[in-house]
Amino acid sequence: MAEMTADQAAGLRRMSAPRPVRVIAVASGKGGVGKTNVTVNLATAFSRLGRKTMILDADLGLANVDLMLGLQPQYNLSHVISGERTLEEVIVEGPGGIQIVPAASGIQGMAELSSAEHAGLIRAFSELNTDVDVMLVDSAAGISDNVVSFSKAAQEVLVVVCDEPASITDAYALIKVLSRDHGIRKFHVIANMARDERQGRELVAKLLRATDQFLEDVILDYMGHVPFDEYLRKAVQKQKVVLEAYPSSKAAKAFKDLAAKADKWPMPRVAGGYLEFFVERLVEAQAGEQEAWI
Ligand SMILES: Nc1ncnc2c1ncn2[C@@H]1O[C@H](COP(=O)(O)OP(=O)(O)O)[C@@H](O)[C@H]1O
Ligand SMILES: [Mg+2]
Repeated sequence: MAEMTADQAAGLRRMSAPRPVRVIAVASGKGGVGKTNVTVNLATAFSRLGRKTMILDADLGLANVDLMLGLQPQYNLSHVISGERTLEEVIVEGPGGIQIVPAASGIQGMAELSSAEHAGLIRAFSELNTDVDVMLVDSAAGISDNVVSFSKAAQEVLVVVCDEPASITDAYALIKVLSRDHGIRKFHVIANMARDERQGRELVAKLLRATDQFLEDVILDYMGHVPFDEYLRKAVQKQKVVLEAYPSSKAAKAFKDLAAKADKWPMPRVAGGYLEFFVERLVEAQAGEQEAWI
């Protein structure tokens, strides 16, 4: 057999190295601003861009993602925490081949997991043998340990706001806790249920004024707005994503544009120190990258 050159060997190692996974936590502070809709629709749009997409329903005690998609999973994350099922066994397939990790509904203990349980769950993703390019994490409302742990373990945090004073103050409080106490500096922002782009910008400007004044070093990246759209409500009633039920609606178009934007973000690098989702894939992909330069 012919011997491989060093270049070929490095090339082969690179091909077999896992790809890094882009993990985006969707959070808001306030409930009812559209996190779950943003999550399922962005996931659908990513999947249409050809990305292998996964959703983690991290509203652990009040599952919404499966309901929003009309799925009835037999098992969920409570079975993973109790040790009855592995993470791989609770994953169900949603529309467009999206892989869903379903949460439990009405199990209060799930909303109050210990830090060891959070760490166990986050590490369990590293054991998965599945192809994933993007994972969206649908967070619970509030600033509980669940929200903080999963946001820290993601590489990107996307904050959803809408035109209500409480939405802005709660988003500010969330950003304050994540930046001041947990070292997260960059936040992407979507203005949901906005009348138009101008109102979306005004809304985010309010948030920006507060963060600029009181939170040094925080960077807000305004991604754009999703219009208030009756078709989105109709889609929720039908337990379908608006991108599928009403593909030519304004909301569907906005989600497609936002996913295309996020798809161009630089690929995640390993951040310093704390536990991250799929961290091994990041490390290995980075090592492969370095090897290619040697
Ligand atoms: N862009 C939008 N246009 C119209 N209604 C919306 C929009 N986004 C969200 N909603 C409404 O708000 C409700 C709450 O959204 P949801 O995604 O469940 O919020 P959260 O996950 O933040 O609690 C939805 O069921 C829908 O009726
Ligand atoms: Mg929700």
